[in-house]
Amino acid sequence: MSALSVKHLLGIKEMNTQDIELIFKTADTFKEVINRPIKKTPSLRDITIANLFFENSTRTKLSFELAEKRLSADILSFAASSSSVSKGETLIDTVNNIIAMKVDMVVMRHPYAGAAKFLSKHIDATIVNAGDGAHEHPTQALLDTFSIREKLGDLKGCKVAIIGDILHSRVALSNIFCLQKVGAEVTVCGPPTLIPKYIHELGVKVETNLIKTLEWCDVANMLRIQLERQDIKYFPSIREYVMLYGLNKEILDKLRKQIIIMHPGPINRGVEITSDVADSSQSLILQQVENGVAIRMAVLYLLATHLKN
Ligand code: CP
Repeated sequence: MSALSVKHLLGIKEMNTQDIELIFKTADTFKEVINRPIKKTPSLRDITIANLFFENSTRTKLSFELAEKRLSADILSFAASSSSVSKGETLIDTVNNIIAMKVDMVVMRHPYAGAAKFLSKHIDATIVNAGDGAHEHPTQALLDTFSIREKLGDLKGCKVAIIGDILHSRVALSNIFCLQKVGAEVTVCGPPTLIPKYIHELGVKVETNLIKTLEWCDVANMLRIQLERQDIKYFPSIREYVMLYGLNKEILDKLRKQIIIMHPGPINRGVEITSDVADSSQSLILQQVENGVAIRMAVLYLLATHLKN
């Protein structure tokens, strides 16, 4: 199989296991390419991609831009804060004006859940979701799962814990879908107030004890507390959160095994994870960022085949 079953990348939920395996196989090839002295391929020459970021980003924005450059696409980058959105222009008007400049693909980050799907129904371009509110962040889940596969091999039966603010995390939801589709087991762990009520419907285990979770898992994906999405107080204080859910080297060293530590970034050092853990040999954090470029190259390349047909 050499084509994705989807025309847009809106979320992992809509994809099948073959899609994920195809993206990983393609990313393996692109990872080789970007480690060569000449890192570019002409694969997306004549394709124009607009990167529309209505919410802040460091990793995702730069990683998509680099992936597009490595594939020789023409790119436009847009930050809402410096655009006419601040003058009251709607999402559809903004994007339609960009599409009028003959843009083929739109990579969009937006603070509202469902924004990428909404756009795909109204705009004649391929849409790639770079994070929509607390809904999905599909390329993050793909690069996270790809990084675990690279480190551990077969993911069937692999035990992955996602720890922290599950309620507000698009990374958690996309990772749950992606990991389950490749056969991994998932436990979510955090304060009960930061675990969504619907979580049992997703077939994951739920644990509120950090140590028990770490003893169970092969991989711990530590999430940031998303204070910017919290309208009320979900726990008494950061100090108490750190005491119950912060991962430090002492906790890690007491485990009877070596687990892998991941974090999607940005890290709040000293809150969900201490520096000695983030920078330890067990941490995959910078490999995740490195793999993000190859994964995004694979996604853009595979989606572009629909444009050429
Ligand atoms: N992981 C992630 O989405 O980081 P950014 O918000 O910096 O893009």
